[in-house]
Amino acid sequence: MPTALKPIPISRRAQNSVGPIGQLMSQALKHPGLISLAAGFVDNETLPCEATAQTLTRMAANSQLLRQALQYDTSAGSMQLRHRLAKWAYRNWPDVDNVSPDRLVLTAGSNQLLHLVAEATIDPGDIVLAASPTYFVYMGTLRAMEARVIGVQADENGMCMQALKQALDRIVASGDADRVRAIYCVTDFDNPAGSTLSLERREQLLSIVKQWRSKHGRLLVISDTAYQELRYEGDELPPLLAIDPQAADFVIEAGTFSKSFSPGIRVGWGVVPESIFAPLLELKSNIDFGAPHFSQLFMNEILRAGEIERHLPVIRQHYQLKRDVMLEALEAELRDIEGISWRRPKGGLYVWLVLPAEVDASEEGTLWQRATDLGVLYVPGHYCFPAEGEPVQRNSIRLSFGVQSPDRIRSGIRLLAQAIRQELAL
Ligand SMILES: Cc1ncc(COP(=O)(O)O)c(C=O)c1O
Repeated sequence: MPTALKPIPISRRAQNSVGPIGQLMSQALKHPGLISLAAGFVDNETLPCEATAQTLTRMAANSQLLRQALQYDTSAGSMQLRHRLAKWAYRNWPDVDNVSPDRLVLTAGSNQLLHLVAEATIDPGDIVLAASPTYFVYMGTLRAMEARVIGVQADENGMCMQALKQALDRIVASGDADRVRAIYCVTDFDNPAGSTLSLERREQLLSIVKQWRSKHGRLLVISDTAYQELRYEGDELPPLLAIDPQAADFVIEAGTFSKSFSPGIRVGWGVVPESIFAPLLELKSNIDFGAPHFSQLFMNEILRAGEIERHLPVIRQHYQLKRDVMLEALEAELRDIEGISWRRPKGGLYVWLVLPAEVDASEEGTLWQRATDLGVLYVPGHYCFPAEGEPVQRNSIRLSFGVQSPDRIRSGIRLLAQAIRQELAL
């Protein structure tokens, strides 16, 4: 008789990494007819196929460029692209003089940058403060590092600064001040709640962090600008690095071409303080000694040829239309139900829906099953709440208007409304 194989032991880090993404994907695969308002994918129709084909043809015809693209580069990535990006990402803030290509690292998507920042700065038991709710994938990364993530109250203008001060005061009172490492915020049109940190709060945040640093020492701000280019109305707000020259000492700004151009290309970046640039590169060198160079030179060509400037108005118009369709459908289907509210995002890909307090929108509640039986999938909002701090709202839902067509968004919201009415016995 062969002896039963013992399971291979897995690390604590891997055990701590179990998150909702896999489950949500398998739900979608099990029910292929389902209208998924869950996926954070970008719109398939407007992917830049033509610009990509033309750029690849140009690259193929330039043997020197092609050879370069097919070769390794440095761990920090192509200096050509870093130079271009330091200007392009801050093009509306030409006076910014604290964004240097020497402190800019190119990564495989901004998720890799966020991951590296956590690796480089977090030890088990360290504290990160984040808006409540916040980007659940990054919470997964932080959980794997055994960080304590503390949720801070937030509204449509992002993290509330009074609440941040109170949270910091409580940490000081509990004797854990030396464990505070970072404040993470998705600065524009955040995932999941669609909120944007107002200019006033951006300034307050920088001032609170400077005060903390002068008293307690190290504290970083991780500003995730993944959705910054997807604004559909209102004036653009300055990134944190454009507000205060001193911010270069403690602000990490993470950017990506995933939402503004294509997630498949996997080019993200981070502008990081000098003090963590070298350690972060050491970690990166152990992983991949540089994100894909081909993708970097491809994006360099896209920027050089002005393709992204041609692409952005197209996707903005498309997403704005889909956002409006979703908001109109919510208005038509759910407005009369007491206790339901949602936010109107000025950009990004998400609408945050809060149901009456008694509804459990998680997979353990009955709404989830009703919705999937009827044919619509959403992200249960409870995944987006940090384990400490603000209470978890199990009655919340993240809806995405990025992937589905306007017709399917309307149908999806109609089905969701049906499920909610059944749930509330209306
Ligand atoms: C808030 C936020 N940050 C970062 C990312 C990572 O994107 P990427 O790794 O494709 O650049 C995402 C992706 O959805 C996101 O929603």
